[in-house]
Amino acid sequence: MVDTDKCFMTTETDCAELKSTAPSLKTLCDHNSGDNLICIRDLSKSYTNNANQSDKGRFDILKAVDFDLAAGETVAIVGASGIGKSTLLHIMGALDRPDSGTFLFRGQDVFSFDNSQLASFRNTSVGFVFQFHYLLAEFSALENVMLPILIQGVDKALASETAEEILVRVGLKERLAFRVTKLSGGEQQRVALARALVLKPDMLLADEPTGNLDRQNSEQVHQLLMELNRELGMTMVVVTHNATLASYMSRQVTIINGKLTKPIRGVLC
Ligand SMILES: Nc1ncnc2c1ncn2[C@@H]1O[C@H](COP(=O)(O)OP(=O)(O)OP(=O)(O)O)[C@@H](O)[C@H]1O
Ligand SMILES: [Mg+2]
Repeated sequence: MVDTDKCFMTTETDCAELKSTAPSLKTLCDHNSGDNLICIRDLSKSYTNNANQSDKGRFDILKAVDFDLAAGETVAIVGASGIGKSTLLHIMGALDRPDSGTFLFRGQDVFSFDNSQLASFRNTSVGFVFQFHYLLAEFSALENVMLPILIQGVDKALASETAEEILVRVGLKERLAFRVTKLSGGEQQRVALARALVLKPDMLLADEPTGNLDRQNSEQVHQLLMELNRELGMTMVVVTHNATLASYMSRQVTIINGKLTKPIRGVLC
């Protein structure tokens, strides 16, 4: 069994050797992190500029990132545009794959899942609010929120009741039957939030959930998120430029030179 403590004290070469003899990265995670919901180790992601296939066009966005998240914890990822916040969030939602590294969710190696396990992870373990909401334009607010429930095989009446309950909670009682194209940007974002929350996932991943909202609606969404965390112990990772929302989270992190680090207070939101 690898002596992981030694990893923190030896040179990078020694550490690489130690890791190569390790039974698996899962062991490192278990050893160091107790019963974390998420354990990310050595995760890297780069993009290559299509117009130029050489290394010159390669952008290393995440570089050997380590990240632990306990169940029930709330984390804000803050920082300047283009530093990789959405990239990291998409990987945590299994919407994108890293180039290398490990992502364990409840001790399970998500990127070793087959397609049906991945679909189930995305549908039931994680609720995702996208930076651009991707609602189905042809459908009403209620129908958009019902869809994830119907996919679970729940009957239509119960799906409708459950979807209505969460839409009322995000302040859209009067807009249930509206086609989403008839809603304001802020209302559309609240429908997206309701859709992400309707199955009460273990973890909410939200990319700028209040990016399009005015102060009053933002505050309403902030309160809702905190209530859900208190009531359901819902774990949350929220990418935000909103300093108030970031301050409600129990922890704030940013990405500097591809590494997760603590933000400098007041500078990075
Ligand atoms: N599919 C892609 N192909 C090539 N480059 C990409 C791709 N997706 C993201 N990038 C690049 O990776 C970098 C990080 O993007 P990302 O969307 O993660 O940034 P961000 O921190 O979320 O920024 P913002 O605050 O503006 O949303 C950016 O420079 C972006 O251009
Ligand atoms: Mg982004």
